[in-house]
Amino acid sequence: MLNFMRAMCLKRMVAATLPVVFLMSCAHKHSKPAMPAVATQRDAHTLSNADSIQVNHLFLDATVDFDKKMIVGSASWDVKNPLKLHDLRLDTYDLSIDSVRVDGKLVAFRLDQLVKFLGTALHIPITEHTTAVAIYYKTGHHATALQWLDPTQTHDKKHPFLYTQSESIYARSWIPCPDGPGIRFTYDARVRVPRGLLALMSAENPTTTNDSSVYTFRMDKPIPAYLMALAVGDITFQPIDSRTGVYAEPGMVAKARYEFDDVGKMVGTAEQLYGPYRWGRYDVIVLPPGFPIGGMENPRLTFCTPTIIAGDRSLVNLVAHELAHSWSGNLVTNATWNDFWLNEGFTNYFERRIMEQMMGKDYADMLWELGYADFESDVKDKGATSRDTWLKDSLNGRDPDDGFSDIPYEKGSHFLKLVENTVGRERFDKFLAKYFGEHAFTTMTTERFLVYLDSNLLMGDTALKHKIDIDAWVYGPGIPANCPRTHPVRFKAVENAAATFPVPLAAVKGWSTHEWLHYLHLLADTPTIAHMKVLDDRFHLTHSGNAEIADLWFQMAVKCNYQPAFGEMERFVSTVGRRKFLEPLYKGLSQTPNGLKTANLYFKKYRNNYHPLTQESIQKMLSKANGG
Ligand code: BES
Ligand code: ZN
Repeated sequence: MLNFMRAMCLKRMVAATLPVVFLMSCAHKHSKPAMPAVATQRDAHTLSNADSIQVNHLFLDATVDFDKKMIVGSASWDVKNPLKLHDLRLDTYDLSIDSVRVDGKLVAFRLDQLVKFLGTALHIPITEHTTAVAIYYKTGHHATALQWLDPTQTHDKKHPFLYTQSESIYARSWIPCPDGPGIRFTYDARVRVPRGLLALMSAENPTTTNDSSVYTFRMDKPIPAYLMALAVGDITFQPIDSRTGVYAEPGMVAKARYEFDDVGKMVGTAEQLYGPYRWGRYDVIVLPPGFPIGGMENPRLTFCTPTIIAGDRSLVNLVAHELAHSWSGNLVTNATWNDFWLNEGFTNYFERRIMEQMMGKDYADMLWELGYADFESDVKDKGATSRDTWLKDSLNGRDPDDGFSDIPYEKGSHFLKLVENTVGRERFDKFLAKYFGEHAFTTMTTERFLVYLDSNLLMGDTALKHKIDIDAWVYGPGIPANCPRTHPVRFKAVENAAATFPVPLAAVKGWSTHEWLHYLHLLADTPTIAHMKVLDDRFHLTHSGNAEIADLWFQMAVKCNYQPAFGEMERFVSTVGRRKFLEPLYKGLSQTPNGLKTANLYFKKYRNNYHPLTQESIQKMLSKANGG
């Protein structure tokens, strides 16, 4: 273990170009360096050297061609080159570069060999006087950020749709850019789309279509590339209040408007907790069902799945989460994907604080407990001593999406909750507000955060530090012994009611999605066909309109081969593209020979409805199950 860590540290230092305070990432409980050492840590997931050359502003000119499923355009960068370097490197992935101009003149550019996961570095010759670099390019058929939908794959089924998903390193598949979270830039954009469609970005947005079908955008706050976003389709807008609103397809917008009625209030709640919302407007767009994730915190415009439109506003914590990223993530950004918990752990914590404020402690406690259950099962899957269960991740040389798990979210947020419990809420809230304020529009490493935590909150108090045991959380595996737990009274009530089977109708009155999930979890390990039938007759769970409940129910149906649910399950996997739902279903199916046949069949029929990355992950899982 020690040798392994020494080798890792050495590798990082050799690869280093970005100087930062490097406190403890080589630390082991018993081999901690006594003094913070100044060393280096580089983002291993970008091939760009724009951290040494300033590319401060992008002008993106793009035409969206639905026939060719291609974006054609140019990316023009404002450049400053104080170090007088001769070679600007930008990230690209499956882009075809037509030409490059430096200060208006055509230059001979060069594309490197493809690097696994990372794409191809574009080399552009520059001089110390260079101020402008423009790249003329087209996106490829394997653009990982782009999902092109035919009309049949949309909610209203009338017009095509395009959306991007740039996190973590997919912006490079639609814009040649410095694609690392540690590099920020402002942008302007001009986007041409087919007549009648609306384009939206992570920027100042239009609310209606115009006759020219050309839309212009401005983001005047510096953001990292993973927050570049574009959606194009038949989209309409409805305001919530003066600074919030919803966008969706016409047939969805009223439902979305109803579901998100509290979003205006939510922004105010978040501000009360951790300081002013710095981005101007906050809008949400509900995308077609193929969207591969729940939500994405694109600045000013959260992208979200329609699977949270439950009809009863019970899944809006996802919006609280994406809104919270307007502080944790978008304002203070993880410097590398190894520090991902700084984005997601903080946001998970913040999300639950917003929900507590809006819905009460009993409600937020349920979110904490469901999160803890996810944490526990993820640690079980990975192994309690697995390196992948540290908060500080080690993704160098790997796909950064390997780091996407419950660890950064749940271990991260439980760590912050422990700090809160230890120092008291008032002190912790003050600390967090100050942290966001002082580091606005900058990046943060785990090591710098820990130094900041020590000097602004823990103040070197050894008793406090001992109680928290930072090393065990950040540089150690599994669930630390001092992990805080909640004991939600509303779950206790569910457990009491569950003592009778089937649970009486009167008992479930007023249950939120979270109570239903807890109830089903109690039965989910060993469901039987007989139990499923009784529950279905009483509660019609096969036809639940709530995607969270339906997904868990279908997983149970797969486990015990409860056939009456399979028709609806097929309908579900034929349209919903959210990985969180699809992966466990396909995995569950692939565990029996008959189920595997069904999974193969579904995947063949419906894979084109899924985002390229969802296709890839399910493909990988199925080919393993098929013995490939
Ligand atoms: N930023 C993430 C989504 C993401 C992470 C995309 C890593 C690509 C790589 C987003 O904020 C998120 O966490 N979404 C969750 C929401 C949930 C935790 C409420 C999701 O999509 O499920
Ligand atoms: Zn998040």
